Amino acid sequence: MGGEKTRPMWWQTLPTMLVLATIGSASDGALCPRRCWCNDETLSASCGSAALEVVPIQLNPEVRHIDLSNNKITQVRFSFSLYNNLITLDLSFNKIKTLGSSNFELQHNLKHLNLSKNEIEKISKDSFKGLRAVTTLDLSRNWLEELTWETFRELHSLQVLKLSENRLVYLEGRLFKSAKHLQELLLDHNLFLEVPTAALVDATNLRYLSLSHNLLKAMEEGQMPALPELRTLLLDKNIIDDIHQSALSGLLALDHLDLSDNNFTVIPTASLTKLSNITKLKLSGNFINIVPPVAFKGLFHLRFLRLDSQELLQRIDARAFVDNINLERVWLDDNIAVDRLPTRLFHGNPRVTYLSVRNNRLTNIEVTHFPLDQLRVLKLAGNPLECNCSLSWLWHLIQEQKSKRSVELANGTADEDGMYSGDLIVDWEDIRCAGPEPLTDVLLVDATESQVDCSVSWIAAVSATLTALFIVVIVGGLLYWGPIKRARAKEKELSAVESRCRNKTGGACSNGRSEPFENIRTDKCMIAPPLIHHDYRTLPSWDPYSADCAGTMNIYEHLDLNNKTRPHIVYV
Ligand SMILES: *[C@@H]1O[C@H](CO)[C@@H](O)[C@H](O)[C@H]1NC(C)=O
Ligand SMILES: *[C@@H]1O[C@H](CO)[C@@H](O)[C@H](O)[C@H]1NC(C)=O
Ligand SMILES: *[C@@H]1O[C@H](CO)[C@@H](O)[C@H](O)[C@H]1NC(C)=O
Ligand SMILES: *[C@@H]1O[C@H](CO)[C@@H](O)[C@H](O)[C@H]1NC(C)=O
Ligand SMILES: *[C@@H]1O[C@H](CO)[C@@H](O)[C@H](O)[C@H]1NC(C)=O
Repeated sequence: MGGEKTRPMWWQTLPTMLVLATIGSASDGALCPRRCWCNDETLSASCGSAALEVVPIQLNPEVRHIDLSNNKITQVRFSFSLYNNLITLDLSFNKIKTLGSSNFELQHNLKHLNLSKNEIEKISKDSFKGLRAVTTLDLSRNWLEELTWETFRELHSLQVLKLSENRLVYLEGRLFKSAKHLQELLLDHNLFLEVPTAALVDATNLRYLSLSHNLLKAMEEGQMPALPELRTLLLDKNIIDDIHQSALSGLLALDHLDLSDNNFTVIPTASLTKLSNITKLKLSGNFINIVPPVAFKGLFHLRFLRLDSQELLQRIDARAFVDNINLERVWLDDNIAVDRLPTRLFHGNPRVTYLSVRNNRLTNIEVTHFPLDQLRVLKLAGNPLECNCSLSWLWHLIQEQKSKRSVELANGTADEDGMYSGDLIVDWEDIRCAGPEPLTDVLLVDATESQVDCSVSWIAAVSATLTALFIVVIVGGLLYWGPIKRARAKEKELSAVESRCRNKTGGACSNGRSEPFENIRTDKCMIAPPLIHHDYRTLPSWDPYSADCAGTMNIYEHLDLNNKTRPHIVYV
């Protein structure tokens, strides 16, 4: 005990000696230690990175702001009793192990206290005694394991509390009983196995809560207390694989939920559906296998959805996003097992303007996959694209964008990020072909038109051959059969063709006669609709059921089908 008693005396005399040492060099007014910057007008003292081992005591006693960050201060005993007007005190990046008892007792005006990056293991019940004006308290990056309920007992004004990067496993109940105004609570990078329910029940004004990077496994019923003001909840980087259906039902105002990098294997649709006000949802980096129909049921306000880095994702249902009518931006990148997207996936989402599908395993991208007429940004790089004539629409889009870009560069009107007002931006600089042979590993923008042009492809050749064959057969038939039979047969056939045409292709095969040149034009029109060539924006194409030439863009399915069953309709 004797030794302990002499220590404070020693500590107290040391600063006095310092004062004596510096007094000779002092100008009028307050004193400022050698490595500090003092400003008597703003009443602040900056002693950051000054290699200080103790808190200087010769500062202006009126001082309001002291920065002592990045020093070697180990304790704060009696250090601040000289300065009772402090508003800001930064003690971050020091070597403080303990805060002792009542060392801030006279700091009735202190609003911001930063104790981040120290070595504090324990906070006793009187450590923060007197700090009734503190609104921001930063205790992040310390060695705290637990906090008893008295810790913040006098911090009635506390609004922001940072406890990130400690070793917390548990918070006692009633910890926030006095902190009625607590709005922001950071508990990320700790060792919580469960949501600290007992403490959180009192934090009814909380708007922002981070529990990122802990060891949360599941969210049981009742674990998340009702926090009616909570806007942001971060639960990323845990190992959550299940959220009870009603676990989130007390978060009625929630706007942003981050569930990235957890262990979900299915989308927790039933638990999410309660969050009707949510606009941002992140589910990146989970182990979701399929995205089923109406996966985000009831989330009518959802605007931003991250569903990327799902290593195991195989399939996205065409109706996955039908409830999310306000969806604006969707990230589906790095879903490395996804090799096809359903046609018209975003059919029910009239506000989607940003879509990123980079680094999937898509080999073919059809124009009907995306609502091109409403998109502003479409990212497709990193897919093993088969650059055959099915991608001719994309090639044309890219060429158009590239030439616009070079004009803008030449004029000096291009924006830094390459955004042009009102146009669709494709990440064409990175879109590479994986095949076929001459195009392997070539940028799609560098392919020649003939390499992606449908009119000179084998389809055209086959169709020409088939047409010729058909004519030969007809002519042969005409020569073979008698004139009366011929007339009857022709009448029948023509009427059949006409009725099918009306059903299938509308005006595309107007009079249904077998005239070879007209055939080719019809054919070309279907393969590469002229509207796409010139201005894809004028497409009325997002009406899936329109049966005209431009609307029927799933052309190869049609061709295959027709090749087998009724070639005379397609090519006639
Ligand atoms: C506390 O100091 C650390 C380190 O300088 C800084 O990163 C942090 O933003 C400060 N906290 C507050 C609440 O200002
Ligand atoms: C939901 O959001 C709207 C608009 O942002 C807001 O007016 C409303 O109060 C929110 N609902 C709740 C329960 O907070
Ligand atoms: C979470 O998923 C990872 C990756 O699949 C796995 O290694 C880990 O064991 C899972 N953890 C739990 C607790 O299920
Ligand atoms: C182009 O390649 C894709 C992917 O392999 C294939 O689905 C499509 O049928 C091909 N199109 C043509 C016209 O060969
Ligand atoms: C670029 O400049 C030329 C003439 O200097 C002008 O006619 C053209 O409209 C400009 N283009 C853009 C995209 O500004």
